[in-house]
Parts: sequence; C-alpha cells; structure tokens
Amino acid sequence: MKLDPILAPSLLAGDHADLGGSALAVPNHGLKWLHLDIMDGHFVPNLTFGPEVLAALRRRPELADTFFDTHLMLSEPANYIEAFAKAGSDLISIHIEPEYDHAATLADIRKLDCQNGIVLNPGTPVSAIEPFIDQVDLVLVMTVQPGFGGQSFREDMVPKLQQIDAWREERALNFRLEVDGGVDLTTGPLCRAAGADTFVAGTAFFKAEDRTAFVASVDHW
Ligand code: DX5
Ligand code: ZN
Repeated sequence: MKLDPILAPSLLAGDHADLGGSALAVPNHGLKWLHLDIMDGHFVPNLTFGPEVLAALRRRPELADTFFDTHLMLSEPANYIEAFAKAGSDLISIHIEPEYDHAATLADIRKLDCQNGIVLNPGTPVSAIEPFIDQVDLVLVMTVQPGFGGQSFREDMVPKLQQIDAWREERALNFRLEVDGGVDLTTGPLCRAAGADTFVAGTAFFKAEDRTAFVASVDHW
C-alpha cells in the first residue's frame, strides 16, 4: 500500500538571514512538512542552526500546524534529542553511522513524544539499518553526501529504496520512506517508483522558477 506523497522543503536552501520568512513558504503553499537540517560541523563539514532557532520557528503562529521534520546530522545525537523535542520537533531522525546506542536513542525520541527516524549515508549499506526498521516511523535514505544542498542526486541509491520498500511490504511495516538530496522534477519520480513517499527538496523548492508548479507535480510522481 503506497503512502500518499509528502513534500518536505529543506530550510537549508532558504534565506539564512530570514529563516522565519523562508519557512512560511511551507504553509503558504499548503504543505505540512518542513525539513530542518541540523549540522554540527563534525559529523558533516557544515554548521547550520540549533534548538533555539527551531523553538523560535515553532513560536511563529503561521507555523503552529507545520510538521518539523528534524534531521540531526550530529556525531552525538543522543545528547540533543531532548533539546530538539522540547524546542518543538515533531519527528527527529538520527544517523546510523556514529557510534552510540541507536535502539535506545530511537526509543528515547518516542518517549519524548516525537516520531523517530533512522538515516543512512550513501556509503552505508542498507543492511546497517535493517535491524531498526521495525522500531521507526521513518527511514531516510541520503541521496547525496550530507553537508550541503544543491548537490547532484546519486542514482545508485535507488536500489536501497527498493530494498527498504520490499522489507516494509514483507514485514507489513508502515514507516515512511524519505529521500534527501538532489530531489527534483526528474529524480523525484524515480524515487517514488522505487518506493519513496516522502521527499526532501531544498534547491528544487526554494530556488524553483515556478514553486507552485513544483509543489503540484509531487502528487503525480
Ligand atoms: C544534506 C541536506 C540537503 C538538503 C536538500 O546535507 O540534507 O540534502 O536537505 O538539499 P537539495 O534539495 O538542495 O539537494
Ligand atoms: Zn536533511
């Protein structure tokens, strides 16, 4: 059973001098999900923003109903899940690559009344996340090396989506399957056909020539 497609614009591609204004494009286009890329300059070679920024966005009345899909690209995510949950995250996804107790941290995210997700980088085999797919609300497959927006989509990641989608079907699991990195009018349909249902788009959304047309296209991927 295919889940309805969700487009999650990534604020990374917004105006970092006016993140609140950029975030309003989500409700203004009738979208629910906002993707927030949190980077520590250690797990990935870039720095973005922390819980205080997320809390300030959460206080914006226009964003009260926006789903904060929070992608932690951190070496020690367990140290930050409470801060991001309290700041107003709706879902917190954590990477499989750093060494920490993944199962315990995933459970802790749910104890904080947040949905949870597990994320894998392009160089990580899909087998690394298999043990966790029955305890998550979302699996995020990185289709670029995390750290920066505007990179080219890695088509060699498509078989990972097919494999995870097959496991989901076989085991009657209902997590969302999200892709992040280089998702646009061309690559989005490829990902949808491979089983993805949740699409992070930074550049393709915030730098779109016709944003309304891009948003409308997602339902037909
Ligand atoms: C990876 C980031 C980016 C961003 C999307 O570091 O997670 O993938 O969200 O970037 P675009 O859509 O511009 O490739
Ligand atoms: Zn992301």
